Amino acid sequence: MRLDYVTIFPGYFGPLSLSLIGKAIESGRLTVVVHDLRDWAHDVHRSVDDTPFGGGAGMVMKPEPWGEALDALIQPSPARRALIIPSPSGEVFSHRCAVELAGYDQLIFACGRYEGIDARVADYASTIIEVRELSLGDYVLNGGEVAALAMTEAIVRLMPGIIGNPDSLAEESHSATLDNLLEYPVYTKPAAWRGREVPEVLLSGHHAKIAAWRRDQAEALTRARRPDLL
Ligand code: ADE
Repeated sequence: MRLDYVTIFPGYFGPLSLSLIGKAIESGRLTVVVHDLRDWAHDVHRSVDDTPFGGGAGMVMKPEPWGEALDALIQPSPARRALIIPSPSGEVFSHRCAVELAGYDQLIFACGRYEGIDARVADYASTIIEVRELSLGDYVLNGGEVAALAMTEAIVRLMPGIIGNPDSLAEESHSATLDNLLEYPVYTKPAAWRGREVPEVLLSGHHAKIAAWRRDQAEALTRARRPDLL
């Protein structure tokens, strides 16, 4: 998979060289290219924002640099690809979304700042590429960079061959194998720690009982914390 990020803060993407994503890049499974939006701004100040039509506080990202960036990055190709625009007014990004996007060949993240990107950019882009406006959740970040990083991590770990033991993807929160429930609590050695014992059943070696206990715990946790998922 190829990932492109367009941003006015390329430094945000340094951590992509770490951990699993860094290894995926080293192994050639993943190509990451970070672009500075200002490379497509041509005035002396390399400006990328302007005041909003209709008035109001804040600045809006100008369409021209974004248009040029997209023209440079979106070449005609049969590859399965999408333009992702992180935005608090997008559809909520979910595990299901991550599963779907993990099967793409190229994702281009357009990281807006200020009050967002001139709305004509997404409209124009949708004539040449699938466009997804996606929100991390019901809160506002200062820009799309952190959201793009979070989405990247959720997507890349689901690509084939990225996680050493693919079984660990099966029984985790929001996975289909766990019926989209939250994951049950997990424990490791020692069996007793600071007066707290690991639940007896987990030491029993009885696989069916362990599976039933985990299922009960997952349901109880989901009912308590996220009843909307049931
Ligand atoms: N940009 C600003 N806030 C955001 C959010 N909640 N999700 C995605 N992108 C954003």
